[in-house]
Amino acid sequence: MKIAQSTPQIQLRGVNKTYSSGVKALENVELDIHAGEIFGIIGRSGAGKSTLLRLFNGLEQADSGDITIHGVSVTGKRSQLRDLRRRVAMIFQHFNLMSTKTVAQNVELPLRMAGVPAQERRQRVDEILRLVGLESLRDSWPSRLSGGQKQRAGIARALVMQPEILLCDEATSALDPENTLAVLTLLKEINQRLGLTIILITHEMDVIRTLCDRVAVIEKGKIVEQGEVWRVFGDPQHEVTRGMLGTLHHGRAESATQVEDGQQLVTLHFNGVSGQEPDLQQITRVLGGNARLVYSSCEPIQGRVVGQLKIRLDTPMTREVLRLAEQVADRIAIHE
Ligand SMILES: Nc1ncnc2c1ncn2[C@@H]1O[C@H](COP(=O)(O)OP(=O)(O)OP(=O)(O)O)[C@@H](O)[C@H]1O
Ligand SMILES: [Mg+2]
Repeated sequence: MKIAQSTPQIQLRGVNKTYSSGVKALENVELDIHAGEIFGIIGRSGAGKSTLLRLFNGLEQADSGDITIHGVSVTGKRSQLRDLRRRVAMIFQHFNLMSTKTVAQNVELPLRMAGVPAQERRQRVDEILRLVGLESLRDSWPSRLSGGQKQRAGIARALVMQPEILLCDEATSALDPENTLAVLTLLKEINQRLGLTIILITHEMDVIRTLCDRVAVIEKGKIVEQGEVWRVFGDPQHEVTRGMLGTLHHGRAESATQVEDGQQLVTLHFNGVSGQEPDLQQITRVLGGNARLVYSSCEPIQGRVVGQLKIRLDTPMTREVLRLAEQVADRIAIHE
């Protein structure tokens, strides 16, 4: 999506949170999230991701700093909590469906609690079950559903109150790859069709790569890096980000690649800034006829190709070749 340059839908300024146990979970967090975007939050276990997400719907309160939604502060005002919970819905890793209620009854629950009349409830439940593709399972018990179906029921229940923002805390972690893909496709569809803002936490970098517009990396309660996904994945600045991206940036080939005496191993990095795909003809022209491709991790993210090409040269590059090579990639690393 194109991010409108309007006031952010959610703004965090100088947000701090320390649990009563003394654990400092968030420190001076500054964040802008725009209406209609899909925003990813990544970081190591215990970094503070869930704490951050739970601030958005008032499940956690910040100790200091300011959180605004559409310019209105939501920090510390209990009276606004109910309104906040309606506008900001959440889905969970383990679905949190009530086992003694059918799919339709689970989805209907928030409407009942809000006192919506029976006829309207029925209509809205049917509508939302159609949207998530569960109409044929409306009277099934959760225990009879697959993981993917359970999560779709969770999504339906979250959406039935027509929220503006959907929070997802590891919503696909308990699913197999096929169901993960189905749920992600559904989330993308909902984002596009309803214009819903989605904020999600995941440990799966593929989820960020395929679904998100922007991503923030959190480490020990601090946001250490944030930006458009192709930018962050194409040229990660922080060691934690590089660690999480793993093969995309270090490559399995490093240790496996043998170079004999006189040979040289070079990596051409592409970070997507130029918007150009690697030009193979130009690369081979510059490197000459003795270049062998030993590893490649280039992939398109948001329409920009990012990654690396690792190349073995039979003879080391001269200074002049290196100068030319620097023009065909965004960065060059020579492995001694
Ligand atoms: N209710 C709580 N009381 C005390 N400490 C807590 C509480 N919830 C979380 N913490 C601590 O705060 C820190 C951040 O926790 P949080 O759950 O936000 O991390 P996370 O990034 O979501 O981790 P994970 O990837 O494992 O889910 C951790 O050190 C955690 O132990
Ligand atoms: Mg968590």
